This record gives sequence, C-alpha cells and structure tokens, in this order.
Amino acid sequence: YLQEYEVSQECKDLIATLPMEQGWLATHLHQYQGFWFYTRQLQGLLSCQKHFNALNSDVILVTTPKSGTTWLKAWTFALLNRKKYPKMFQIHPLLTENPHFLVPFLEINLYADKNLLPDLNSLPSPRLFATHLPYVSLPKSIINSDCKIVYLCRNPKDTLVSLWLFTNKVKLEGSSTNSLEDSFKKFCNGVSLCGPFWDHVLGYWKKSLEQSEKIMFMRYEEMKKNPSFVLKELARFMGCPFSKEEEDEGVVDDILKLCSFKNLSNLEVNKKGKLPSGEENRAYFRCGEIGDSKNYLTAEMIEQLDTITEEKLGQYGFRF
Ligand code: A3P
Repeated sequence: YLQEYEVSQECKDLIATLPMEQGWLATHLHQYQGFWFYTRQLQGLLSCQKHFNALNSDVILVTTPKSGTTWLKAWTFALLNRKKYPKMFQIHPLLTENPHFLVPFLEINLYADKNLLPDLNSLPSPRLFATHLPYVSLPKSIINSDCKIVYLCRNPKDTLVSLWLFTNKVKLEGSSTNSLEDSFKKFCNGVSLCGPFWDHVLGYWKKSLEQSEKIMFMRYEEMKKNPSFVLKELARFMGCPFSKEEEDEGVVDDILKLCSFKNLSNLEVNKKGKLPSGEENRAYFRCGEIGDSKNYLTAEMIEQLDTITEEKLGQYGFRF
C-alpha cells in the first residue's frame, strides 16, 4: 500500500476520465467499473484483466478488504500443502512467512508493476491466488475457465472498523490520520477500498447461488463460530477433501491450530517481519473477534449500517 508505483500511460489516460476521491490511504481512489481502487491497484487491475490466464485447476481467493483474507490465505495454503508438510508445527512455510507472502494478490502484487509481467507457468498445481476485485472486474479467464473461486466477506460493521484502523496504521508517515466519522461516511457512500462494500458482496452472492460448484461463499463469522465444519467444506470444494484417516489423525485440528490468530500472530515473522511491499506483517493481526466494532461505533452508526445492509441485501435473502 505504501509504495507509489509508476503507472502506465494507458492507466494515466484512463484515470483522467474517472471520478476521483481522497481518502483511506495516502493515495487517490478512482472509480472504475462501479468500484473504488487506489492508483497502484487500478494499474494492476488493468494488467491482470489483460494478461492473467486462469487454469482450470486454479483456486482464486476473493475477499473484501479486512474480512479475514490473511486467515483464508493461511487455511487454503495449509490445505493444499498438507501432504508436503506432515509435521506442520516443525517445518511449514506458514511458520516463517506471512500468508500474504505465500499467496499473492493478482492486482496488488503480481500485476502491479507496469514493466514486469509475472511468469506463473512454473508454479505448482493447483495454483493459489488472491484478489479483492469485484465480480465485474475479474479477468475474463477466471469467469470462463473451470477454476474455483472462494469468496469471503464479513459483517460491514467489523469490516469498517478493521479497515479504518488498518489504513491509519499503514498510511504514509506524516500523512494525517483519518477520523472515524469521515471514514464511516465514506464507507456508507460506497467510497472504500473496492467499495461499495454491499455491491461487492452482492455480486458474488448472486453468482454463488447460480454456480455453487464454481463459487464457494464464506463469511468470517462462520469461520470463527464453526471452524472445523467450514474448513472441511472448503477442502471438499477445493477438491482436496479430508480422508477418514486424516480426520482420525487430527489433521483438521492441526491446520486450525497452525492458522489460528493466536499461533500466527505470535510468530516472530508476524511480530517483526515486513512484506516486500513494505507493510509490517503485524498490521494484519489486530484482535480477530466478532463484534469488536461496537467498541468504536456509536449506536446511530450501527443502526445506519444495519439499515443500508437490509436495504441493499435483504431483498436477496442475504443477512449478516
Ligand atoms: P480485526 O481488525 O477485526 O482484528 P484481512 O486479513 O482481510 O486484512 O483482515 C484482517 C482481519 O482479520 C483483522 O480483524 C485481523 O485481526 C483478522 N485476522 C487475521 N488473522 C486472523 C486469524 N488467523 N484468525 C482470525 N482472524 C484473523
């Protein structure tokens, strides 16, 4: 988030035609295809729309920012690599690397550099990628191939508070802090990273109802409340279900323990390390609870967010 990448002429020309807003991070937000992206992300979006070739075996994680992406990356990475690292508490990449390093974002990491396209052909199958892009902005090959999409969101109150605290943490040094009031207003008006939040959720919710074998729709709250059930469902969806022997040996619980907030947030790499893009790993671990937003939001703010959610999603049978 910190680095301002140089953008291509194509991206500059496009930006000149797009609505723009200040806020959240120390860069502008641009509205493209109905959603708000910061400059470097827009550059990456255009590039991956043009160049990313999804394979049928790929698994694409899609999340709204601050909905538990770090946790989902850890879960899916651990699921796909469990045979390779049977002694996962002794030797495992998640013990020494942050999940964001192991599972890169398409538009933020892999395709963000205008001068360098990634070579993804040599990656082991199934390849695992992440993105925050809304459904309408996904590279066409993701829609048209048989790759799997795992979508994760979280209730908007906790998402907003987590986003507000996170963006203030990773903003450029010296730039002023965003007030909660201002961030709240922007969020409600749809002006947030990859917002409008509700449109992002709705896009994937509708598609997941039509194509349940292609899109698995997940919520942070379900991961917290019923982790082993959700992890097993996820494994089945991804085509790597747990065998009876694995379940008997406690592999499900081991993965949950390895990826738990307590374990990951206490690792040296996540206390002291940084991502190549500059963010401190510890910024991705705060408290990891459901409902912590009530310690920040006023009753009026909560009511307003609940009302918008009901107005926008209630008619589709969706409730947080
Ligand atoms: P809070 O700010 O509410 O604590 P993302 O990974 O999409 O950026 O989302 C970050 C949120 O997920 C933060 O929420 C963070 O604490 C929480 N989180 C990170 N790792 C987690 C884990 N292993 N288990 C549960 N929650 C986790």
